[in-house]
Amino acid sequence: MKSLIILAGMMGCGKSSVGELLSKKIGYEFIDIDVELEKSENMSVTNIFNEYGEKYFRKIEKLKIFEYVNRKNIVMALGGGAFEDEETRKILKHYGIVIYLKASPECIFQRIKSEIHRPLLHKNFSVDSISFILKKRIQNYEKAHFTVDTCDKNLEDIVDKIIRIIK
Ligand code: S3P
Repeated sequence: MKSLIILAGMMGCGKSSVGELLSKKIGYEFIDIDVELEKSENMSVTNIFNEYGEKYFRKIEKLKIFEYVNRKNIVMALGGGAFEDEETRKILKHYGIVIYLKASPECIFQRIKSEIHRPLLHKNFSVDSISFILKKRIQNYEKAHFTVDTCDKNLEDIVDKIIRIIK
């Protein structure tokens, strides 16, 4: 089994909950890149976006990911936009096994409609706005090694499916 497992996909696709359970089951450490950024910047992701802009966020997000690529026995949850960067995709695919957690815009909307910490959706939150972002990103998400649908299964089933894939 590879020692770096990467979870990619849209916000609300389940990266954090899947990552936490998966890491527990296989005895790996769970690293959520957004959480690590919030720790090292001492600021929420929303505040980083608001104060310094998306370009700055993408720069520190990429550096944070690169900090972990050589570590052993890690499950890494990416932020939803991280896999857009070509160099990041190349490095992650080289060092680890990348799983795209697929979810439809309707399913994502249902999951995150009560959350307020999504800077990219603050102004215009709807199934359409999620679809718009997903359409732009799907071609890159599909470059992951494997795809697992997270809308038609419960958490345990999703994690067990991933374990079968990575073993
Ligand atoms: C983003 C998703 C967020 C976070 C930031 C930008 C995106 O992470 O990195 O708000 O571009 O889709 P989650 O996918 O964990 O919500």
